Amino acid sequence: MQLEIDSKRLQQELEKLASYSDVPAPAVTRVVYSATDLAARRYVKHLCREEGFDIREDAAGNAFARWTGSDATLPAVGTGSHIDAIPNAGMYDGTVGVLAGLEAMRALQRAKFKPRRSLELLVFTAEEPTRFGIGCMGSRLLAGVLDPAAGARLHDAQNHSLDEVRGLAGFTEPLSTVALPADYYSAFVELHIEQGPVLERKQIDIGIVTNIAAPASLTITIEGEGGHAGAVLMPQRHDAFCAAAELALEVETAARSTEAIDTVATIGRCEVFPGAVNSIPSRVRVSLDVRDTNQVRRDSVLAVIRKACDAISHTRGVHIQAEVLNSDAPATCDPKLVEALAAACDAHGLSHERMVSRAYHDSLFMARIAPVAMLFIPCRGGVSHRPDEYSTPEAIANGALVLAETMAALSQ
Ligand code: GLV
Ligand code: MN
Ligand code: MN
Repeated sequence: MQLEIDSKRLQQELEKLASYSDVPAPAVTRVVYSATDLAARRYVKHLCREEGFDIREDAAGNAFARWTGSDATLPAVGTGSHIDAIPNAGMYDGTVGVLAGLEAMRALQRAKFKPRRSLELLVFTAEEPTRFGIGCMGSRLLAGVLDPAAGARLHDAQNHSLDEVRGLAGFTEPLSTVALPADYYSAFVELHIEQGPVLERKQIDIGIVTNIAAPASLTITIEGEGGHAGAVLMPQRHDAFCAAAELALEVETAARSTEAIDTVATIGRCEVFPGAVNSIPSRVRVSLDVRDTNQVRRDSVLAVIRKACDAISHTRGVHIQAEVLNSDAPATCDPKLVEALAAACDAHGLSHERMVSRAYHDSLFMARIAPVAMLFIPCRGGVSHRPDEYSTPEAIANGALVLAETMAALSQ
């Protein structure tokens, strides 16, 4: 089989998809169910329709484009990723897995490949937590990890519920219809940019993911006492932001104290109320993101952070409350699929190395219902979640080629 990736077309499609953005290029912002997101989905569905793939969308807006195999009764081979983008993101996170996944399927069509199992491209809804606070909303529902009733009650910053917002976007069926049966996919393979520096530094073409780190995220609210920034003297203060600042350093110390390179913790959001220069912060709400490949170690860091909350609340006379948004287990990639990816790299003379995914991906949840594997391509400087995120056309084409070869092998 002669597989050829149309890199030029793929680049044009990535550029076009990046143009669906709420901020000027090169930055991309595409929040789930926004008008921009819906337009971007229409574009991707249009590309899939052009190839004659059957398209269906579920109640969460997860979109499936299927090339039916010669034995349509067999579980399918899936690929895909997400097209939503965090505020001020770049143009490759998630989109490469979708558009290069599509190009992989087109390359197989051009090669006159006849799959036995159906091949399917999946565009996940809301991998990013931007709007509803939890990542991988679509894949959580597909895997049955997120209870549909709890999902329906999720709400955005404007207090619009998920049910309300998805309904306005045209997705009106009950969320309970989203979960996939356990035998839906015989294999699911996600292509993604590495979002880290290892492949570029080591000049390796393809990273083959062996496991995906376990994420947890919390919202921590600190209630202190507000007041006049001039009149209230320092000994009398219960400044909520100072408490948050102390907590931020405790979070850093807790993550570093495991001495494991795989432990990471981040406070990425901080809302200060009332947010006036001459007013002492009375309330602060911060996000906390803690991850580790080892779930026990991650949970021990969370326990240390909770203790720090108690201590700070005691010494500073503030009230601290932590709400867990998600606390997920890590995933292990399927050894047979890992081997299939390695064989596909070898078949095309591409260097490869096994690695851990420290970012989470929809595959973390797909792993609960299907054998999963992921392949990474290098990205410049390991940069991601930034407008200057970049992967070369060659790297993307390599990813598409390995994906096509792997899907072909898995579909027979
Ligand atoms: C995904 O975007 C992540 O935060 O890992
Ligand atoms: Mn991302
Ligand atoms: Mn991503």
